[in-house]
Amino acid sequence: MKILVTGGAGFIGSHVVDHYIEAGHEVLVLDNLSTGHRENVHHKAELIVADLCDHDRTSDVLERFRPRLVNHHAAQIDIRRSVAEPVFDVNVNVTATVNLLQSAVRSGVEGVLFASSGGAIYGETPAPVEEQAPKAPISPYGAAKAAVEGYLFAYAHTFGLKSLSLRYGNVYGPRQDPTGEAGVVAIFSRAMLSGTQPTIYGSGAQLRDYVCVEDVARANLLATDRLFSETALPSTPDDGAYNIATGASTSVNDLFALLKEVIGFDGEAAYADPRTGELMESRLGVGKASRTLSFQAQIPFSEGLSRTVEWIRSAR
Ligand SMILES: NC(=O)c1ccc[n+]([C@@H]2O[C@H](COP(=O)([O-])OP(=O)(O)OC[C@H]3O[C@@H](n4cnc5c(N)ncnc54)[C@H](O)[C@@H]3O)[C@@H](O)[C@H]2O)c1
Repeated sequence: MKILVTGGAGFIGSHVVDHYIEAGHEVLVLDNLSTGHRENVHHKAELIVADLCDHDRTSDVLERFRPRLVNHHAAQIDIRRSVAEPVFDVNVNVTATVNLLQSAVRSGVEGVLFASSGGAIYGETPAPVEEQAPKAPISPYGAAKAAVEGYLFAYAHTFGLKSLSLRYGNVYGPRQDPTGEAGVVAIFSRAMLSGTQPTIYGSGAQLRDYVCVEDVARANLLATDRLFSETALPSTPDDGAYNIATGASTSVNDLFALLKEVIGFDGEAAYADPRTGELMESRLGVGKASRTLSFQAQIPFSEGLSRTVEWIRSAR
C-alpha cells in the first residue's frame, strides 16, 4: 500500500520506513531534516524535504501522493525546548498535526498511526501503567501528545479517519543522535567510547523502560495490520492507544553498568543535580500490545546496547 511517513529521515521513523519497504509497501517520506538525515532514508523510499508547518505544502504532498496510511513520526522532540518555547512546540506538534489530519481526510487517507509517548503522558508510574490509566503530562511536549490523541479520537468520530497511537517507552538503538538532548543510551555510549565520563543527573535511580528501535519498528507493522482490521469506533482515546515497550524497567545506574561492560569502559560516571521535572519512575504495562497486536519486544537489552554501540563506533 502507499504510506506517507512523516519524520521518516529521523531515528525511529527511518527504521519504520525500512520495515515498510521490506514488507513491500510504497513509501513517501516527508521530513524537514531539522534533526533527521537524508542518509537515513531507505533508497527505495522517496524523500520530500518539507516542513509540516507549511500547511499548503503538506496538503499538496498528500493530494498528489494519496496514501492509504499516514504514519506520523515528525515532531519537535526536545522536552526542554517545549518548556522554553511552548508556542513553537504546539505549532509543530499540535497545529501542524491537525493540518496533517485535515489534509489526510481531504485526500482520502484511511488511517493514521501516531508516535505518542508513554513517558510523557502518564507522569510518575510507581507500577506498570495500562493504557486507560489517568494521564499526567507534566511538560508541554507531553500535553501536545495527549492533545493529538484527543484529536485522533475526534477525527475518527467526525470524519471516519481510523487511527492508533503508539505510546513508546524510551526508544534506543542505531541512528539515535548521540549529540541530542534526548537518548541517554546514545549520549552515554558516545561519551564512554571517547573515554569521557558521562553525567548522571540525580541519584541514577530513575527507572525507564528501554525498548530497541527495531522492536518499535516491528510494532508499527503490527499496528498497521491492526488498524485496517479494526471496524469498531473507539469509545475513548485510550481504546486506540498501545504502550510499546518491554514491560521491564532499568535504572540509569544499571544502564551505565551494562554499557561499561559492553564498551569495556573502566571509568565512573559523574553525578550532577537532578533536572527539574524529570520523572523518577516510568513503567509501562505491555499486556494490551501483547494481546491485541501480538507484539512482544524481542531484542534483549544487552544485544540492543551492543548494536547501538557498534553503530556509534562506526558512525564516529
Ligand atoms: N525517541 C524516543 O524515545 C521517543 C519516545 C516517545 C515518542 N517518540 C516520538 O517518536 C517520534 C520520532 O522521534 P525520534 O526519536 O525518531 O526523533 P527524531 O528527531 O530523530 O525524528 C523526528 C523527525 O521529524 C523531523 N521533523 C521535525 N520537525 C519537523 C517538521 N516541522 N516538519 C517535517 N519534519 C520534521 C526531523 O527532521 C526528524 O527526522 C516523535 O514523534 C517523538 O515524539 C520518541
